[in-house]
Amino acid sequence: MAAHEPETATDTLLARRQASVSSGVPQGTRIAASHGLGAILTDVDGNDFIDLSSGIGVTTLGHSDPYVVQAIIDQASQLQHTCMHIATYEGYVALCEKLVALFPHGEDTRAVLLNSGSEAVENAIKIARQATGRPSIICFTGAFHGRTLLSMTLTSKVSYKQGCGPFASNVFRLPYPRVREFHDDPDVVAEQALTLLRHAFRDTVSPTDLAAILIEPVLGEGGFYHAPVAYLQGLREICDEHGIALIFDEVQTGFCRTGSWGAYQNLGVTPDLSTWAKAMGGGLPISAVVGKAHVMNAVKTGTLGGTFGGNPIACAAALTTLRRMEELDLCSRAHAVGERLRVRYQQLADAHREVVDVRGLGAMVAIEFCVDGDLTRPATEAVQQILAHCRKNGVLMLSAGVYGNVIRALPALVITDAQLDKALDALHAAADAVLGGSDHE
Ligand SMILES: Cc1ncc(COP(=O)(O)O)c(C=O)c1O
Repeated sequence: MAAHEPETATDTLLARRQASVSSGVPQGTRIAASHGLGAILTDVDGNDFIDLSSGIGVTTLGHSDPYVVQAIIDQASQLQHTCMHIATYEGYVALCEKLVALFPHGEDTRAVLLNSGSEAVENAIKIARQATGRPSIICFTGAFHGRTLLSMTLTSKVSYKQGCGPFASNVFRLPYPRVREFHDDPDVVAEQALTLLRHAFRDTVSPTDLAAILIEPVLGEGGFYHAPVAYLQGLREICDEHGIALIFDEVQTGFCRTGSWGAYQNLGVTPDLSTWAKAMGGGLPISAVVGKAHVMNAVKTGTLGGTFGGNPIACAAALTTLRRMEELDLCSRAHAVGERLRVRYQQLADAHREVVDVRGLGAMVAIEFCVDGDLTRPATEAVQQILAHCRKNGVLMLSAGVYGNVIRALPALVITDAQLDKALDALHAAADAVLGGSDHE
């Protein structure tokens, strides 16, 4: 900083961060947040950002929905904590009732509440292992399942786990059935990927040792690829044939993001177990495993739970968040937001040969960049520059993908059309600035 420039409130907070917070916590931007309202995040210097990150897919209902704020205040003044192991309280039960109604997994469904997405994934694996009496898990490339030891083992991207091993045993990884990487036709992708799975049963892990196959129906951090429906149907059949639990990680896809409450409902395949977090608490930390009752109850008492899981304030926030999502019909809104994103991304694709793909489900739409459109040369640097340019112009977006060459939008679904258009105008301007205007007439 030049000597004459006064230090901003952002500079001060970032300096305090550097002096007190471990450098292991990622710092994707230099934004220092003060407050948020709806789709707008305001920094400590009073600058507004149209927030297309939603704190990584959490504030789907927008920042500080007034009904959620009131529910938190009311619950905090009534009961802030008692552990569900000690005393039963209504909020926990009501939230489980709501989740099993929203996410039926067959005739009889149960839920357990936890604190984070990682914890939900860990517990889904524990449940599957106890229910099947088997140790092994198949997961996928491109997956992000969290940062606790087992969930980190299941996470794919090397840079998130380097030096943290040894990892949990009995975890095997197959290529995620990515359309375009395997083939352009989703049915061909499904067939090839199912063949790989059957082959893995012979040369990698016996199906009789498998407790679960764990998959994100849409890769979140992995770049918004969604698995072909025929592949998920095939997984369902194979899991049924071999008594393997099928687990969908819906931590990022859940709660209206893909145009239905869960992506599995959009894709028409029901798992045995599913994991939920992020948008569920409206910003408070809470997560869940939901599943078929006979699987969820095939566990020894004492193997699930925790001091804070399903905290009363987080339950109150979640119940109100879900009610508001229903009232505002955010599933329908996700389709409209997704359509707007797609149209503007496609215009970018028409203008810049660097854009190699526009993909996603519902409002979960991403755009991928490669140098000169060459699929072997991910445009990681250009994407970082585009995102920095967007931030300079008041728009906050995230990258994704193994190479960080994908831009993903996770806006609050209460975002107005005008806000979304303004954000996408900024993205277009940023792409023109970084990629050098339009390639095509
Ligand atoms: C699909 C998926 N699963 C699990 C997690 C881990 O959730 P958490 O960060 O709450 O532990 C994430 C987080 O981004 C996620 O996207």
